[in-house]
Amino acid sequence: MADLRVTLNRLSLRNPILVASGTFGYAREMAAYVDFGRIGGVIPKTITPLPRMGNRPPRTVETASGMLNSIGLDNDGLEAFIEKHLGYLLTLETAVIANIAGRNTDEFVEMARRLGEFQRLAGLELNISCPNVSGGVDYGTDPTLTYEVVAAVRGACELPVIAKLTPNVTNITTVAAAAAEAGADAVSLVNTFQGMAIDWRRRTPVLGNRIGGLSGPAIKPLALRCVWQVAQSVPVPVIGIGGIQSIDDVMEFLVAGASAVQIGTANFYNPGLSSALVEELEKTVDAEGCERVVDLVGTLKAS
Ligand code: FUM
Repeated sequence: MADLRVTLNRLSLRNPILVASGTFGYAREMAAYVDFGRIGGVIPKTITPLPRMGNRPPRTVETASGMLNSIGLDNDGLEAFIEKHLGYLLTLETAVIANIAGRNTDEFVEMARRLGEFQRLAGLELNISCPNVSGGVDYGTDPTLTYEVVAAVRGACELPVIAKLTPNVTNITTVAAAAAEAGADAVSLVNTFQGMAIDWRRRTPVLGNRIGGLSGPAIKPLALRCVWQVAQSVPVPVIGIGGIQSIDDVMEFLVAGASAVQIGTANFYNPGLSSALVEELEKTVDAEGCERVVDLVGTLKAS
């Protein structure tokens, strides 16, 4: 049987199939559908220091091959997360990576320090790319700020650090390079593309927040391009995200250079997909005549 283990600097995973923040609740909701003992890891919904109500509804709308959301980081805040969800999450037989968002570097650092007390967490993913809150993408669109926040979090706790990047920039490689230089163990990309849905008869935007973030199969080619460009030019492992819904999609991201992937929007319509993909990945790596999945990473012939 193929060896599916992957190592992203200080983060070791049993296999490269993760589930993306914001699409998997706090895992309890998915327990009936997913074999947690099979998947590579779980990334629960973004946590902020204090509770947030999120944006006004409607907050989601289906689009052609995709979905727009403008949730606005609705969550109960860090201490409620620790009290209500973290205990359960840490009983799961899988890696748990907490996803955090602060309004400034100090808030990121405070959260990292507090979560750093939980040694059984596998890592932290920094959401520096949320398009749905005021200032949400400031850090992820400015390489200097990306460097500042990643370096500060690295210095504040021992947990492996992943920077989650936005595609809403001219050149994602410069932001990824800043994260790598600041000591990120990995970068995950891409978060959603800013988009809009319009009810032309009413002459109104569909989303309460007017604009939102597009995810799902519609963005896969765009995400693949970003992953390939970053993997080629930046010395940091890449976690690919964007419209993955089949084993072929997983393989495309791996050969483009992703060391791991996150399943996102597909969890909403096929909640058992992540564990099914692990089975399929095993077979596909075997069928390729490889002993280890890592041997397939970055094998795209495009020079
Ligand atoms: O809750 C949210 O609006 C999350 C958005 C994101 O990080 O993409």
